[in-house]
Amino acid sequence: MVLTQGDFLILKNEFLEVWTLPTGCAIVKLLVKDKNSDIRDVVLGYDTEEEYENQDAYIGVVVGRVANRIEKGRYTINGKTYHVPINNGPNSLHGGIRGFSFRKFDWSIANEAIDYSYVSPDKEEGFNGNVEFHVIYSLEENALKMQYKAISDEDTVLNITNHSYFNLTGAPCDVTDHILTVHASKFAHVDEDGLVDGVIEDVEGTPFDFRTPTRVSEQIEKDNRQLVIGKGFDHPFIFDTDSDQVQLYDETTGIEMNVSTSYPVATIYTANYLVNLLGKDKHAMTRRSGICVETQFMSNDINLNENSQTILRKGEEYNEYTSFAFRVR
Ligand code: BGC
Repeated sequence: MVLTQGDFLILKNEFLEVWTLPTGCAIVKLLVKDKNSDIRDVVLGYDTEEEYENQDAYIGVVVGRVANRIEKGRYTINGKTYHVPINNGPNSLHGGIRGFSFRKFDWSIANEAIDYSYVSPDKEEGFNGNVEFHVIYSLEENALKMQYKAISDEDTVLNITNHSYFNLTGAPCDVTDHILTVHASKFAHVDEDGLVDGVIEDVEGTPFDFRTPTRVSEQIEKDNRQLVIGKGFDHPFIFDTDSDQVQLYDETTGIEMNVSTSYPVATIYTANYLVNLLGKDKHAMTRRSGICVETQFMSNDINLNENSQTILRKGEEYNEYTSFAFRVR
């Protein structure tokens, strides 16, 4: 069922309770039972809608029009070059200065789901085309499903993700004790500015090999140039499978999250740049206090690949999903 309370829209069933807000379609709380049946809130977040309007670090929000970096804030489609805001070193990050993460979405409730919608006008944050965009949140038993749908009146670029920081202990403490599995035998390099530069490497023999369950802390401090540049993990992992691509597990609570997505990639980000933000109940959110599994198409793909999957053709439907399922063991 869907409930409302103040500004919040809440999805609830016997397994999960998910508190959301219209600004950035923020996932504010995600309540799950641990192995002792105690309720844990497994995402970082803020308390109020105002904090999301002025937020930092994209905590729990949808990211668009284009997740991650666009080289030099520039892309070309059909021979025409467009300029989007440079807000991260020499590049554009997460849809510009006031991308989707900062917009207040309209909403409706249908079939036990929350349908958040937003019409992004042509040239908003420099991006071309009028884009009608929907984020639909629903519960499917023990899973939160996020469906992204869009349609544009021009060929344009779109690459949507959700930027939740998970911490399966239920508190914003060091997340690197979590055990991570990523079914990916390749990952993408980033340059000194965090920009994906087109170099792809096999994970075999590197600290990026999470094909079997591995504690993040065992890998994150290893001597590896990509880890140094990223200040930890902040890299796209290229999936080998088309479902159940990522698992995250915390032994203390017994909570396991399973990620399934239609996207080919996830940027795994270990909150390397998160510095002392005051979150829910005045808890400090600090470096490495959460882990993001940002499912998406390859970052900066619009500048790396002529036939980029991030091109949304005029009149065609963008339709991608990610689900986060929870169980205890
Ligand atoms: C990016 C990081 C960036 C962070 C900002 C992540 O998705 O990969 O490089 O610093 O978002 O919150």
